[in-house]
Amino acid sequence: MKIAGKVCVVTGGASGIGKALATRFIAEGAKAVVIADLNADTVSAVGAEIGAQAHALDVRDETAIAALVASVEAEHGQIDLFCSNAGIIGVDGEPWWATGADNELWQRMWEIHLMSHVYAARACLPAMIARGEGYLLNTASAAGLLAQIGSAPYSVTKHAAVSFAESLAITHGDDGIKVSCLCPQAVDTAMTAGTDGGGVAGVDGMLSAEAVAEAVIQGLDVESFLILPHPEVEEYRQNKARSYERWLGGMRKLRRLFTDPVGQ
Ligand SMILES: NC(=O)c1ccc[n+]([C@@H]2O[C@H](COP(=O)([O-])OP(=O)(O)OC[C@H]3O[C@@H](n4cnc5c(N)ncnc54)[C@H](O)[C@@H]3O)[C@@H](O)[C@H]2O)c1
Repeated sequence: MKIAGKVCVVTGGASGIGKALATRFIAEGAKAVVIADLNADTVSAVGAEIGAQAHALDVRDETAIAALVASVEAEHGQIDLFCSNAGIIGVDGEPWWATGADNELWQRMWEIHLMSHVYAARACLPAMIARGEGYLLNTASAAGLLAQIGSAPYSVTKHAAVSFAESLAITHGDDGIKVSCLCPQAVDTAMTAGTDGGGVAGVDGMLSAEAVAEAVIQGLDVESFLILPHPEVEEYRQNKARSYERWLGGMRKLRRLFTDPVGQ
């Protein structure tokens, strides 16, 4: 899919990868770009800065997502590309047990990293299926294919995001719906600010959000399901499939190198 002339929505659009995506979509000649994010003042300021329409919402609120989709469709006729991108980080915490994160963090990540994708798809699919086309781009993470050392809830909920994107592609490919799942390793954004080079996720280096946006443009162009801005992830994914035991051993070895795995 080419972005020129398209109507695009980006959640988490006031910062980092979402802001870079929105900025790039505008540069590519999108008909309209709508960014949605938590803080009304921030999203308005970013919208004014980059030339996007701004919409304040919490992606955990299904009614608010449905209202966003309805208002964009009412104003622009249709949504061509909906990017579910908002996300948060949080850690297992001392003493770095896989059960260490509290239930509130597990629940928040579940709602932001998975349920918001369900809500967006539920709101977008009726019009997209009716016209036989539409594109859903869901930001997961390399952690959704591999693991996030130091954050079990991040790993688990990003795996869920990958799995839901697979379900969308399997169930609705024949309806004309395209799905891409964006899975970067470390990216230089507010999320990784204060980490030492992205922590353990930064072993292959940090990418800029603009480099991720470039990978997305290329991925959308060829309509590939997986968009991997760090090409190493494909090799790691294959290693994991080839031998779980060996992959788990390698991940344990990597974990030993980091006393504070997420680098925060
Ligand atoms: N930065 C990385 O290293 C990295 C790597 C892999 C995947 N990701 C994923 O990329 C996506 C974007 O992250 P980023 O690095 O740009 O981080 P970021 O912190 O710069 O931006 C995330 C945005 O999401 C918004 N957001 C969070 N919770 C929200 C909610 N409930 N409702 C609405 N908006 C909400 C935040 O306000 C923020 O503007 C996330 O899903 C993240 O998990 C990031």
